[in-house]
Amino acid sequence: MKEASQLVGDLWREVARHEHIGDSVAGLTALVRSTLALKWLIVRRWDAERARLETVAEVGACEGLEARTILPSPRRDSLLSWAGKGAAELWHEREATSISRLCVPEGITGAVVGGPLRAGGELVGLLLAGPAVGEAERAREVFDALREPFAVALTNDLRLHELARLREAAEQDRNALLSRLARQDVSDAIVGAERGLREVMGRVAQVAPTDAPVLILGETGSGKEVVARALHAQSHRHAGPFLRINCGAIPSELIDSELFGHEKGSFTGAIAQRLGWFERSDGGTLFLDEVAELPAAAQVRLLRVLQDGSFERVGGQESRRADVRIIAATHRDMASMVRDGRFRQDLWYRISVFPILLPALRDRRQDIPALARYFAERAGERLFGRALSLDAADIATLQAYAWPGNVRELAAVIERAAILGNGQTLLVGPALGVAPVLSPRSRVPEEADAEDKADIEAALKKALGRIEGPFGAAKMLGVNPHTLRSRMRRLGIDWSRYRGN
Ligand SMILES: Nc1ncnc2c1ncn2[C@@H]1O[C@H](COP(=O)(O)OP(=O)(O)OP(=O)(O)O)[C@@H](O)[C@H]1O
Ligand SMILES: [Mg+2]
Repeated sequence: MKEASQLVGDLWREVARHEHIGDSVAGLTALVRSTLALKWLIVRRWDAERARLETVAEVGACEGLEARTILPSPRRDSLLSWAGKGAAELWHEREATSISRLCVPEGITGAVVGGPLRAGGELVGLLLAGPAVGEAERAREVFDALREPFAVALTNDLRLHELARLREAAEQDRNALLSRLARQDVSDAIVGAERGLREVMGRVAQVAPTDAPVLILGETGSGKEVVARALHAQSHRHAGPFLRINCGAIPSELIDSELFGHEKGSFTGAIAQRLGWFERSDGGTLFLDEVAELPAAAQVRLLRVLQDGSFERVGGQESRRADVRIIAATHRDMASMVRDGRFRQDLWYRISVFPILLPALRDRRQDIPALARYFAERAGERLFGRALSLDAADIATLQAYAWPGNVRELAAVIERAAILGNGQTLLVGPALGVAPVLSPRSRVPEEADAEDKADIEAALKKALGRIEGPFGAAKMLGVNPHTLRSRMRRLGIDWSRYRGN
């Protein structure tokens, strides 16, 4: 028979090997049995919150034991005061004392050795065992050496459960928060829904409840993603995922894996199983952003899954289905791409069932004041902790501009104005002046500069070098004098050359 100290060492090693009490108890009991004849062994956990004892692991006990003992207040107090004394006890049967009746599950017969398991001064559970005939007294002596390793095994197990519970709760919180954010984005972020975007939002409302694919067309920065999210939020899929894919950024050798996922080990680098777009957006919406940039090989694959509704993971045999609604967006003229054979016609027919055309910002100037105010509040709050406001002159300046970069550019200009004004005020003119000058046709910068330079020089010539005033060049060009001056500085135009000419 083993020495008690060696036994304890072996027990600790066993405890360290397992995370779950269910896994460690079999090994621990076998070790104990090498020095002490036990019929059975039970570990019970004390759930202080719910005042109950629960059997969490057992070896050799008979079936049909009471798994859970609820201890209302007076009994709970007696258990705690008994456990506070700390020593193991020997009961010749379950009914021997009022404490043994609380600790030992109903259904156990014969002698029982029982002792509290404690961690950090708190009761965490009980260790109970049934010694073989003639072993009872020795069992009580050995028992105290067993309790610490068992207590640690039990607390490890509890911590693990607690972590899993917290992780689960955090995950749920996160999901709730995300869906709330998504809803908020939609409810308070579509500025102009009642004005310039009224028609667009009407189309969204029409198509949202269906599962029809939608194609959103609009210039860069016009709000295609905002509209796509609103569509998802108004659909019956709103609680499901919204997955945005940048179609221009798919590495061509990974197309299948991106779309359909892969099984672990299906190719070098596939170190774990990965779900593709379709499986990840199952029950929700797949937003194919910049769909015109979809590589040719991916167009073929996408068409197939849209036609068949099924696909396989790379390296997998099983045919899978996913319930996905497709929204695509592009700023390109796709009809001409289809004509020139740069985009598959069959795929185009599938995705262009219900087009929504998003007007450019310059074609809905009535939205500019509300958008500008919205961004001024947001930029001010974010950068300086207080909302900033615009005056009538600022609004007029903003409304006169062509906004080739649309809403995104407006947001950027307002943010720049807030920074230039140091959070005290908005310097809209200077902010616009340093904005990259681009025409709606998206000219190459050098060309744009040359055109601008020629226009400005012609105006200066007519205005005899004057910039401000009713006959000044700024008035002729329809821009703010501030803006004109900074553009001239950037283009290296010297007004004095035109003076008096
Ligand atoms: N109607 C709107 N109300 C409030 N914010 C808007 C609106 N439209 C666009 N925005 C904001 O403008 C920015 C650009 O919008 P979005 O990303 O949807 O444009 P996009 O058309 O997808 O642009 P790109 O073609 O460059 O991808 C975003 O920050 C978005 O929140
Ligand atoms: Mg976009």
